Amino acid sequence: MYRHNDVYCIPKNHASATYKGLKVTRSIPSAPQVLTNARIVTMDAGAEMIDRGAVAISGGRIEWVGATLPADYAGWPRQDMGGRLLTPALIDCHTHLVHGGSRAAEFEMRLNGARYEEIARAGGGIVSTVRATRAATEADLIATALPRLDALIAEGVGTVEIKSGYGLDMETELRMLRAARALGRMRDVRVITSFLGAHATPPEWLGRDDAYIDTVCLPALRAAHAEGLVDAVDGFCEGIAFSPEQIARVFAVAKGLGLPVKLHAEQLSHCGGAILAAQMGAISVDHVEYATDADALALARAGTVAVLLPGAFYTLHETRMPPVDAFRAHGVPMAVATDCNPGSSPMTSLLLAMNMAATLFRLTPQEALAGTTVHAARALGLADAGRVAAGCRADLAVWDVETPAELSYRIGFNPLHRRITGASA
Ligand code: NIG
Ligand code: FE
Repeated sequence: MYRHNDVYCIPKNHASATYKGLKVTRSIPSAPQVLTNARIVTMDAGAEMIDRGAVAISGGRIEWVGATLPADYAGWPRQDMGGRLLTPALIDCHTHLVHGGSRAAEFEMRLNGARYEEIARAGGGIVSTVRATRAATEADLIATALPRLDALIAEGVGTVEIKSGYGLDMETELRMLRAARALGRMRDVRVITSFLGAHATPPEWLGRDDAYIDTVCLPALRAAHAEGLVDAVDGFCEGIAFSPEQIARVFAVAKGLGLPVKLHAEQLSHCGGAILAAQMGAISVDHVEYATDADALALARAGTVAVLLPGAFYTLHETRMPPVDAFRAHGVPMAVATDCNPGSSPMTSLLLAMNMAATLFRLTPQEALAGTTVHAARALGLADAGRVAAGCRADLAVWDVETPAELSYRIGFNPLHRRITGASA
């Protein structure tokens, strides 16, 4: 352990004082400790708020949580949380954080009336980010993603999902995923990767979608998996992207590799992606504005999480609301994420996503918080995150607020007092 530029660094596990010229910040794992005098929102099924509670953490895990500290922990060092609200660290379960370039010009085009699909069909959209991402080195991708990651971390995010999908060739898909893994080694944050080779057909394969899937997407998936770069497999099922049949072929290979699947589905139209995802036991379906009651029923039966992305809805001036009442009625868990990407959701605030989920989609603030904690963990297939419960990672957020509703309530204000992660606890 050593200190560099006021930053503690851990020499093991790849982290060093600098990585490709960038400062690495990881904190020293501390001794066992008890956090006392906290208003704890556990997000554990059926558990109430614990008004003056304590959490015992050791080895990066939560050992105990409750109101009256057992004698076993009497000798442990204590830290008084001053009566603040303590929640699980937030989880951003859907981002395209690693990408090259900017699409500010497209933003202006949309303000002048151009539609997202028109821009995509005219060679802009995802494909324009593909050009910029292919031109970026791994170091470039890391350097441009770090401030975005830091913005999320500053709001109490402890786990972030990062997708590929702007490479759409073997080399660049792998480069994006390597950059994502590197980000997880450079900060006290858990990075979960998704392979998104089936995001769009790149220009050199235009009109030959199936050939692109067979020749590029599936070999890249196998190579990325062999390199340990893939935690899940994603796709984009849409008129401007891939059909359910094409996605099913990608998912079949994913399943063969033992990888969980998830899908961008029913975002701009109803294409049948949600039903397919449910049939294939997907961990999540994302966007889902055009999902139907039948889709909601299928998702509930499959235990698939609906990930709501209000940043994309807002940015694209969409008017079709996700069927939140149907999700509630059928018991579909709803997660909320930023969808941080340069086109449809240039947003690096998960608190803003929670506010938008409440204001635009009418989630209750409690649902919004569940959406960025317990349900977001489930959307990533993580059993040990998103709750303040014994055995879970000690990924916690301490806030200068009194009630959970205040986390969704203010706009552009960050009440985080302190973030604690399994790596530093
Ligand atoms: O999640 N929906 C598809 N993919 C991204 C947008 C990608 C882009 O426009 O660059 C999304 O919204
Ligand atoms: Fe997305």
